[in-house]
Amino acid sequence: MCGIFAYTGKKGKDAGGVLLDGLLSLEYRGYDSAGIFVPESGSVRTPGAVAELRKKMPKDFKGKSGIAHLRWATHGEPTEKNAHPHRSCDGEIWVVHNGIIENFKELKAKLVKAGHTFSSDTDTEVLTHLVEEHLKNQSAEGGSSSGGKGFEKAALAALNEVRGTYGIALQYKKEPDRIIAARMGSPIVLGLGDGEHFIASDPTPILPHTRKVVFLEDGEVAVISPDEHRIFKLDSTKVKRDATDIDWSAEAAQKGGYEHFMLKEIMEGPEVVENTLRGRLIPEKGLAKLGGLETVAKKLETIERIIVVACGTASYASLVGEYMLEEYAGIPVEVELGSEFRYRKSVINERTAVLAISQSGETADTLEALREGKRRGALTLGIVNAVGSTIARETDAGVYNHAGPEVSVASTKAFLSQLTALALFTIFLGRQRGMTAAQGKEIARALKELPKKIQAVLDTKEKIEKLAKKYAHSRDFLYIGRKYNYPIAYEGAIKLKEISYIHAEGCGAGEMKHGPIAMIDENFPTMAIAPKDSMYEKMISNIHEIKARKGPVIAVATEGDKEITKLVDDVMYVPETLEMLSPILNVVPLQLFAYYFAKEKGLNVDRPRNLAKSVTVE
Ligand code: F6R
Repeated sequence: MCGIFAYTGKKGKDAGGVLLDGLLSLEYRGYDSAGIFVPESGSVRTPGAVAELRKKMPKDFKGKSGIAHLRWATHGEPTEKNAHPHRSCDGEIWVVHNGIIENFKELKAKLVKAGHTFSSDTDTEVLTHLVEEHLKNQSAEGGSSSGGKGFEKAALAALNEVRGTYGIALQYKKEPDRIIAARMGSPIVLGLGDGEHFIASDPTPILPHTRKVVFLEDGEVAVISPDEHRIFKLDSTKVKRDATDIDWSAEAAQKGGYEHFMLKEIMEGPEVVENTLRGRLIPEKGLAKLGGLETVAKKLETIERIIVVACGTASYASLVGEYMLEEYAGIPVEVELGSEFRYRKSVINERTAVLAISQSGETADTLEALREGKRRGALTLGIVNAVGSTIARETDAGVYNHAGPEVSVASTKAFLSQLTALALFTIFLGRQRGMTAAQGKEIARALKELPKKIQAVLDTKEKIEKLAKKYAHSRDFLYIGRKYNYPIAYEGAIKLKEISYIHAEGCGAGEMKHGPIAMIDENFPTMAIAPKDSMYEKMISNIHEIKARKGPVIAVATEGDKEITKLVDDVMYVPETLEMLSPILNVVPLQLFAYYFAKEKGLNVDRPRNLAKSVTVE
């Protein structure tokens, strides 16, 4: 979740400027402190974001190469002293790191004994001292610590001693052209330019410079210089890997005229759903064509159970998927939080499929859950947005969301695309397992109509903005829904709490009586997701129960439902669709409501406190 960016070039570009711009585009990954090292100019570090770093950098802070970092603290407070890059005692070795060095305490004790002085509380700093120690030992043995392969050897030796997770960039002041990258559990991508090379935690900061990238695998090390890159394993064996062309434009990651990425990404809903569907439906046959699953299509026929692993918003999409798959494909499905699954002994065999759902494809708990499934012999599948991400690469087969980059920390468009991909997966599996062509056609038709229906909801955004302003004084919210919209109650609540910092609780409407209803009074509003579906009457009863306790109610209801206005205080309407697809429409007003609510409070919508976009540590 920290962001790493490193640059080396011979094109006369100012490395300081290149690195700062890159860090800016990485800010969504984590942002409690920032830092930069450029061999010709030294280092600057600061708590806060890139703007603070820019202010602190002297005018003549220039050079041809360097490393930079945005930190989201795991060990040690977010202070200047703990901000990266970290240095060795002699100030020759510098490192930026994403991840956790698990054996840092024992390594630090050993290094302190050998005379090293540490200047931070971080686990990261052991890396620089370890490299320094190995360089010292090399010169004591008569080798050279500068030029040749001394630095590389020392870095490799150090990396072989550490345990834990890392994505790193290491620089040696005496050899400023060369930067070493390594990956173990935290993503690292190399950017291959003409006369310049880059290292980053994801492709975003590289895209303005080059589209050619190489993703490192766990246990790999890379050395970049202006003219070349080399990759090898921790045991020094060479690795040959072709570059990938990334087709995301740099502009696609910009705000496109909206005040916040979150609003831009909500407004992209229709296009995103269209992109997820593109080329994947054969409506006249009621079939879904998922190229990413072709290699395992036969194996899927033998699968008896699916375990979906995910975290946060992706886990709520998974719950909707559970209902879709069980109803239409007749296959038992369970949803497990990645953080739970990885530590418990669930029953898995070769007839189980573990499906990981993740926007970033890097969420540590989801990734480890997937690996656990693989270790225990399950077929592993993914629904992932980030192309080339670790989860995408480690699954046996999968479906890409095609939602494009999601920058705002609160996930919105990716959620819509996850639900759409799950509906496609339901048709795919369902048609293998007795779903009729007529059913397949009906779902396909309804899917195709979704983009314009989402647009109809988006067109009511001014009304939703007014509503959010009306309720902006509230300190608590209950979200209720049933069946397919039960997970949407949770999703609506997480959206509100994560960007508004107020208490919002999701609840299956039938569960209300078992506890949550005790909270209801005239100051505790409820958001009731009550479309005209098989659960409508039940939802209406639940709304009556809240009104009897004087609780204000906002309903998400089906267009044309006038009756509900007699009961509730406010309504947000959505068009009608198939019940299984209704979450894709019902979540949109809830996303908009959360957005305008947080905006009304003047909060940093795109970068809420304490959160990071990609949670790559446990
Ligand atoms: C909430 C949110 C998070 C993520 C969760 C999983 O808006 O964004 O709850 O959904 O951290 O992230 P991915 O999908 O990247 O695995």
